[in-house]
Amino acid sequence: MADSAQKPRIAIGADHAGFHAKENIKKFLEQSGYEVDDVGTWSEESVDYPDYARAVAVRVAGGQDQLGILACGTGIGMSITANKIPGIRAALAHDAMTARLAREHNDANVLTLGGRVVDDARAIEIVRDFLSTKFAGGRHQRRIDEIAALDKERAQKPRASRRRNARRSG
Ligand code: RB5
Repeated sequence: MADSAQKPRIAIGADHAGFHAKENIKKFLEQSGYEVDDVGTWSEESVDYPDYARAVAVRVAGGQDQLGILACGTGIGMSITANKIPGIRAALAHDAMTARLAREHNDANVLTLGGRVVDDARAIEIVRDFLSTKFAGGRHQRRIDEIAALDKERAQKPRASRRRNARRSG
């Protein structure tokens, strides 16, 4: 068994359409020695994917987990939602090359995939490559910094508009 102390702790979540993929991936991760925090869902009963995307993204953004994995039917809803959380760089991958480049170039900290798009073997291939690839840094770091600056801008805007409104009503 690999040493889990060397491995990132992983948050995992899915909606009903990604439930099967989540269970398959979770089994692979645990067998490979990863610590996994499963935020649900727990069956194929219909649920709303934003709840699970948010739960995983908040854990990763807050540092409770180092990486996240999300599955829904296509992976699209999960990536749209997770990317709303500042600090999250969620990447949708349906093949191993995209998963590798998401880590190498984009320093993606959340992987999303579609349970209705990829089969079990492909899902494991994607997850394995995502986890075994390191961020390349260099020129890519500059671009990641630009993304982080957008997060910062978004966080400051509401405060600026509150100040403007206060001035208007003052
Ligand atoms: C649920 O039917 C489906 O819309 C959802 O799993 C996902 O594919 C959304 O992006």
